[in-house]
Amino acid sequence: MKDARGSFGFTRAWGASPVVLITGCSSGIGRAVAQRAVSAGFTTVATARNPQTLRELEAAGCVVRALDVTDDAARRGVVAELEETYGGVDALVNNAGYGELGPFEEVPPDRWEQQFRTNVFGPVALAQLVLPGMRARGHGRIVNVSSMAGELVLPVGAAYHGSKFALEAAMEALWLEVRRFGVEVSLVQPGAVNSRWGDNVPALKEYASGVYGELVTEMAEQMAKRLPRGASVEYAASVVLRALTDRRPRLRYRVGVDAHVLLPLSRVLPARVWTAWVRKQFPSMRRPAPAQGPVADGIHR
Ligand SMILES: NC(=O)c1ccc[n+]([C@@H]2O[C@H](COP(=O)([O-])OP(=O)(O)OC[C@H]3O[C@@H](n4cnc5c(N)ncnc54)[C@H](OP(=O)(O)O)[C@@H]3O)[C@@H](O)[C@H]2O)c1
Repeated sequence: MKDARGSFGFTRAWGASPVVLITGCSSGIGRAVAQRAVSAGFTTVATARNPQTLRELEAAGCVVRALDVTDDAARRGVVAELEETYGGVDALVNNAGYGELGPFEEVPPDRWEQQFRTNVFGPVALAQLVLPGMRARGHGRIVNVSSMAGELVLPVGAAYHGSKFALEAAMEALWLEVRRFGVEVSLVQPGAVNSRWGDNVPALKEYASGVYGELVTEMAEQMAKRLPRGASVEYAASVVLRALTDRRPRLRYRVGVDAHVLLPLSRVLPARVWTAWVRKQFPSMRRPAPAQGPVADGIHR
């Protein structure tokens, strides 16, 4: 086991085994972060909606707890227990999240709401619960697994982009507010990562017969090609660990070639040039739409 306790300035300041609370550890990046954190000497509290999915992490030395990030009582319960048992939470990793994909017009409002409850309101509420303790102790880290989708926009992901943009803005404001209390906030921005996140892509089929069917099909094909070739969950997890352990953590960490290339381009190119590039990726966006009535039956009207 790699003993990182002596290697990182922050852990020396925090004591022998800082407590990290991680959400969404049933699979993917969250599970890999928990594995790395426990190996690095953190007291690692790995959480998931279904605790049965956490058995391997428990065997590896993690403390495991059930936590649905949209459940207020569960959020409060876990943080209160950690304060009681360990005296507080030194670091929070807001990783749990998913992509509600589909055209803006056709994604039902209740799914928009659930997307924001999971990707924004859950992380915000957890941060609010751990912050008083962090401020009182004069140290803490809040690392959010955001996305490249939190700084650039593509079609067929309005709800997901909206949620990650909201998370980015909220956490950047928090970063500005709490650094003087010794609390650091970071946003990790993966591009494509080869995880179960891609399981959402087949769900796009439900929109394939709608007004935006061609665009949806083009996006589904691109994602099906790109996600398996994306960064590994282990690499994404290593970047989260850097955000947890860097002496001077950055506000933003990009993960993967696409994030490193597309994010800067989307910022420096004039909007007209960037949008032309986006439209080039989706041939149906460049053709005038045929006259259409309301969206296809069976979506949400
Ligand atoms: N994969 C990518 O290409 C990619 C790119 C950019 C950003 N990200 C972000 O990376 C993070 C991790 O995703 P991943 O790629 O590792 O995908 P993943 O394997 O699907 O993991 C997502 C995790 O979030 C959990 N989760 C979803 N809703 C939850 C809720 N209400 N409460 C608690 N846990 C919940 C899932 O748990 P269940 O097992 O209970 O569903 C799962 O553990 C997400 O925030 C995602 O948006 C991923």
